[in-house]
Amino acid sequence: MSITIIYGSDGGCTRKIASKIASKINAKTLDIKKAQTADFENCSLLILGCPTYADGDLQTDWIDHYEKLEEANLQGKKVAIFGMGDQMNYPESFVDAIGILYDTVSEKGAQVVGFTENTGYDFSKSQGLREGRFAGLALDEDNQSGKTEARINAWLAQIK
Ligand SMILES: Cc1cc2nc3c(=O)[nH]c(=O)nc-3n(C[C@H](O)[C@H](O)[C@H](O)COP(=O)(O)O)c2cc1C
Repeated sequence: MSITIIYGSDGGCTRKIASKIASKINAKTLDIKKAQTADFENCSLLILGCPTYADGDLQTDWIDHYEKLEEANLQGKKVAIFGMGDQMNYPESFVDAIGILYDTVSEKGAQVVGFTENTGYDFSKSQGLREGRFAGLALDEDNQSGKTEARINAWLAQIK
């Protein structure tokens, strides 16, 4: 199975997590700045990683290069999403980017895998939730870095 992880990162956290995930599942990582539309298509599992910024928006490189995702043919493709956020300082927009990416890829006919429970977090609102579950993996390196490894392992066991 070929797995591609496409991520964007301002501070390096999402890049670090993308590499960590890649090393566990033998995936290729690509910064959204360098990715092409074909990179979204030419893999059997596509993983997207994005931190939330600006009270509920995508990270800027994702915003600047979003047409690459929008132009990709994702019909029937298996897609998993991970989002980085900070539940303490942004409790009303925690990992919103997960929901933004989810809406785009599901509108394009992708099969989104890797929903996770929202227990173990402390936030009040998130656009990343769909019917009470995160539409991907929510990670908080700012406040819960000790939980990241176990969360990733459980998620990968689920999506592989
Ligand atoms: C200016 C600013 C705005 C942020 N806004 C949000 C937000 O709305 N929701 C959230 O969950 N996290 C928010 N965060 C936290 C980041 O998403 C988090 O620190 C993430 O790990 C950063 O990833 P990166 O290092 O890959 O850029 C914000 C951080 C900063 C500095």
